[in-house]
Amino acid sequence: GYLAASANQGQLAGAPESAAAQSITILYGSQTGNGRGVAKALAAKAQALGYGVNLASMGEYNVRQLKQETLLLLVVSTHGEGDAPDDAIELHKFLASKRAPKLEQLHYSVLALGDSSYEFFCQTGKDFDARLSALGAKALLPTLECDVDYEDKAEQWQQQVLETVKPLIQTAGANVVSIGAAKGDSEYSKQQPYSAEVLVSQKITGRGSDKDVRHVEIDLADSGLSYQVGDALGVWFSNASGLVAEVISGLGLDAAASVTVGKDTMTLAQALSDKKELTQLYPGLVKGWAELSGNAELLGISQDKELTRQFILKHQLADLVALYPVTVTAAELLELLRPLTPRLYSIASSQSEVEAEVHLTVALVEDERHGAARFGGASHFLASAEEGTRVKVYVEPNKHFRLPENPETPVIMVGPGTGVAPFRAFMQERVAQGASGDSWLFFGNPHFEQDFLYQTEWQQYLKNGDLSRIDVAFSRDQAHKIYVQHKIQEQAETLWQWLQAGAHLYVCGDAERMAKDVHQALIQVAIQEGGLEQEAAEAYFESLRADKRYQKDVY
Ligand code: 2AM
Repeated sequence: GYLAASANQGQLAGAPESAAAQSITILYGSQTGNGRGVAKALAAKAQALGYGVNLASMGEYNVRQLKQETLLLLVVSTHGEGDAPDDAIELHKFLASKRAPKLEQLHYSVLALGDSSYEFFCQTGKDFDARLSALGAKALLPTLECDVDYEDKAEQWQQQVLETVKPLIQTAGANVVSIGAAKGDSEYSKQQPYSAEVLVSQKITGRGSDKDVRHVEIDLADSGLSYQVGDALGVWFSNASGLVAEVISGLGLDAAASVTVGKDTMTLAQALSDKKELTQLYPGLVKGWAELSGNAELLGISQDKELTRQFILKHQLADLVALYPVTVTAAELLELLRPLTPRLYSIASSQSEVEAEVHLTVALVEDERHGAARFGGASHFLASAEEGTRVKVYVEPNKHFRLPENPETPVIMVGPGTGVAPFRAFMQERVAQGASGDSWLFFGNPHFEQDFLYQTEWQQYLKNGDLSRIDVAFSRDQAHKIYVQHKIQEQAETLWQWLQAGAHLYVCGDAERMAKDVHQALIQVAIQEGGLEQEAAEAYFESLRADKRYQKDVY
C-alpha cells in the first residue's frame, strides 16, 4: 500500500526553505504486469542510491497527495484503443478534470509502455505527460515511449532519470521507504519462470467443431508458486521446429550458423526457436521486409496503417518468406525480429480445489495459408505438449478480477468461448468457501454439441445448487446468430434485480467485439429496467466499475 506520503508532506510543510525533495514517488499503471515490473526495478535502484521511495499502483494512490509531491515518476502502459489500464483510470481522469490542482512544485518523468502494432501507441503515457505539463509540472526528461521489446530502453531510462533527479533530492535522512510488495510474488517471475510439467493437454471441443480448445493441466509441484482465482498464468514457449525450419530454408540460411542474441551465442535455429517472435508480425517488420524485398504491393501495404493492421492479422513471418523473397543474413534477420514474449492465460482453476496444479483453457489458433498450416505460438506449443513436457510459467496477479470478499454477494459471470476459464476457477473457489451467494453464468460458443466447454461441470454445479443459473448462447445452432448479449437482454428484468441486490458483474473474453456489445446490452438493461436515461445508465456502470463491482478480463 501507499504509506509514506505523510512523511513527504511533513518535510515540505516544515522546511519550505529547502528545495530538495526527500523522496521519490513512483506510480505504475499496468494491465499485464510489465509496468509494475519496471516500476519495482526503478524503486530498487533508487533505494540502492539511498533515496527515499514511495512505490504504489496508481489504483492505490490518493490523488489528494499530488499537491505535496515534488518528484513523481510514472510507468504506465496503454492497451486496446489507447485505453488506460484499469488501475490508472482514476488518476488519468482526475488529471484531466477541473478538480486537478496546479502542480508547479512538481518534477516528473513518464515511461510509456505500448505496442506499436496498435494505432494509439503509448497514448496513456502521452496523456499523463500532457496533463501534468498543462498543470505546470516540469518534465525531467521527455516521455520515453517503449514498444513491446521495452526491457533495454526501460533500463536505460531508469539510470537516466535517477541521474537527473540527483540534484533535486536529499539522500541524507531519506529513509522513508514503502514498497508495496504485490501479493502472489514468489522467487519465480517473468524473467525467471518456473519450468513446470504438463500433466494433461486434452481437446475439449467435439469432433467436427470449428474450434480446437484444449484443457491443459500443469503441475506447480513444490515451486511455491501460488495464485488467486482471477490471476493469469504467463507461459513461455518455443516456436515449432517445422516453422523454424521453413523460415531458415526459405531464406537459404544455415540452421547451425552461430549467432548472438543479447549476450548469448547460439545457433540460428535455437535463436528462432526460443528467442524471437515468429508467429506475430509488427508494423516495423512489415516495413523492413517491404524495403528489403522491394515488392511494390508490400511497400504499398506498409505505408498504410489500416492495410498493415489487416495484413498482420493474416500473415506470419513464414508467409513473408514465402510470398516476398528477400536476401538477408542471419544477423539482419534477427535484428528485424522482436524478442519472443510470453502469453498470458486466465487461470481456470482454484488452488482450493486443485492445490499445486494450475489449469488453463486454451484455444488453438490455427489457419491455413497457401497450403501451409499456421499456428499461434503458445497455443500450438500447449496443444502439442505431451504429458511430461516442460513449460516455463509464472503467475501474473490480476487485482482487477477478484471474487467479492463477501461469499454471500451474488456474482454474474459473462464468459463466452475461452472467456469461461476464470469462471471455472470462480466456481471452484466459491464451492470451497461454502459461499451462499447466488451465481449466474452466461456462456456462448458456436454449437451446443461440440463447443459446450466444461458442460458436465456446470451441470453438476447446477444440480448441487452451487450455480444458481446458466444461460447459453449457441451462436450457430440456428439460422440467426445468438450471442451472450442477447441472453442478457432476454433476462433484463432478473439481471437488473440481481444488480440491485448488489451482484458483482464479470466479463471475460474477446475485447474487440464481445465485451463492447455486452456493455451496450447492459446499458440497455439499465435503461429499460431501471428507467435511466442513456447518460445515467452509462454513469451507473461507471460507478459499478469504480466500486469494483463490474470487472473485465478481456483481450
Ligand atoms: P460466432 O463465431 O458464431 O459469430 C465464442 O467465440 C462465441 O462468441 C462464438 O459463439 C461467437 O459466435 C461469439 N461471438 C462472436 N462475435 C460476438 C460478439 N460481438 N458478441 C458476443 N459473442 C460473439
